[in-house]
Amino acid sequence: MFRRTCALLLLMAAVGCRLSPQPTAAVAETATIELPPPQLDGQMSLEEALAARRSVRRYTDDPLTWDEIGQLMWAAQGITRDWGGRTAPSAGALYPLEVYAVTAEGLYRYVPQEHQLIVSPGLGLGQALWEAGLKQDCIRDAPVVFLIVAVYERTAVKYGDRAERYVHLEAGHAAQSLLLQAAALDLGGVPVGAFYDQKVQEALGLPDDQAPLYLIPVGHPAE
Ligand SMILES: Cc1cc2nc3c(=O)[nH]c(=O)nc-3n(C[C@H](O)[C@H](O)[C@H](O)COP(=O)(O)O)c2cc1C
Repeated sequence: MFRRTCALLLLMAAVGCRLSPQPTAAVAETATIELPPPQLDGQMSLEEALAARRSVRRYTDDPLTWDEIGQLMWAAQGITRDWGGRTAPSAGALYPLEVYAVTAEGLYRYVPQEHQLIVSPGLGLGQALWEAGLKQDCIRDAPVVFLIVAVYERTAVKYGDRAERYVHLEAGHAAQSLLLQAAALDLGGVPVGAFYDQKVQEALGLPDDQAPLYLIPVGHPAE
């Protein structure tokens, strides 16, 4: 664990980590990681990725690279137009979703506008997440667990009661994009809906207005 923490600190220095001027979330956000630009010229066709995608719950011990983590987050919610349009559609272009990654070292919040991560160091989050997720092995064993959360209010200001439906549909879009991207990178993941919402929120110190919708463990397939 100590070696992994040191490795993280070295990595953060290498990718241009800097102090975050204004922490906003309930958790202590201490630094940012500038992600490598997303690749737009992958070798696998969409049809091949669709055919390859399968829920994968067993992984090797190999970690994911920052390129892979960044690419997966971009697939879920990356910005693809100057006006702010993203990879996944959004009702009224209100973008109610936030995407996080949880590793052995901490919690990382994706900032689509900057294609960067806000770091909240925290050892042992994976264990808490595993317990919140009904102790499903895939949550414990994956090198990275992605999390899609909803901020319903962003959509409700325009769509009222219809917002809940829209936000859930959007989470499905984002999750599928991430899973197809994983397949295209020869990674494997599984969408996990069985978890205690409150426990996930507490384990990760999420703000009250952020409701966890999906956990997506991702790693290198063990078979
Ligand atoms: C909304 C939803 C929730 C799911 N929750 C879980 C889960 O909690 N744990 C799990 O192992 N798989 C979960 N899955 C994955 C399904 O078990 C899986 O998609 C199904 O067996 C079909 O296999 P495939 O994904 O390989 O096509 C979930 C899938 C969906 C769409």
